[in-house]
Amino acid sequence: MNILVMKDYTEMSRQAALFIAASVTLKPDTVIGLPTGKTPVGMYNELVMLYKNGFVDFGRVTAFNLDEYVGLGREDPHSFYSYMQRHLFGYINIPPKNIHIPNGKAKDLKAECLRYEEIIRQKGPIDLMILGIGHNGHIGFNEPSSEFIPETHIENLTERTRKANARYFGSLQDIPRKAITMGLGTIMLSKKIILLAYGRDKADVILRTIKGNITPRFPASILRVHRDCTFILDQEAAGKIRDML
Ligand code: PGA
Repeated sequence: MNILVMKDYTEMSRQAALFIAASVTLKPDTVIGLPTGKTPVGMYNELVMLYKNGFVDFGRVTAFNLDEYVGLGREDPHSFYSYMQRHLFGYINIPPKNIHIPNGKAKDLKAECLRYEEIIRQKGPIDLMILGIGHNGHIGFNEPSSEFIPETHIENLTERTRKANARYFGSLQDIPRKAITMGLGTIMLSKKIILLAYGRDKADVILRTIKGNITPRFPASILRVHRDCTFILDQEAAGKIRDML
């Protein structure tokens, strides 16, 4: 596992965006896995700037988002589909047919999980997977559990996760209780993984990911057995692992 500690959030975002831009330049048909949340917003801003300045071309890229809330459609401003349009896809030249996000409004959610897994299988494996990390160690919406669930599935969101996302919704009761998420096996099949974290409130989870037991009770711990995983952190998120660097 490689660990890059950057000066601050801006540098973390820039580094991650440059990493993506370089990967796409080297392999124009890169298949990329993308997260939502507050962490990647700066990275997406940087990517849009790189695109506008002619440094990267997304014309042959295929993107798979990690997850989507159950019950929210594309048009819902709280959906991750809307988030991706607002922060990235609305400003770059990725062909709409190459954008894949689970359908949170599918009538048959099990069939939707199978469909999503099947397209990843056809177009994948994912070349470059970008991850954030939750305060309970979740990656995508893979919440702590008694087992590592390999494939795309429906996840019950923990109260902690729902509260962490409350800032985007009017009230706690408006936050969906379930999400469709890419599974840990599919994430781990990615050729390269980059995990981003910033801020003091992520220092404990970074420490636990790097030093704690590998267990489904702390899903991010599985990244320790990936052969090409890089953490890009700011100083604060790296605050409890400094003596190990
Ligand atoms: P955040 O979410 O970027 O909003 O902290 C990360 C996550 O839950 O994966």
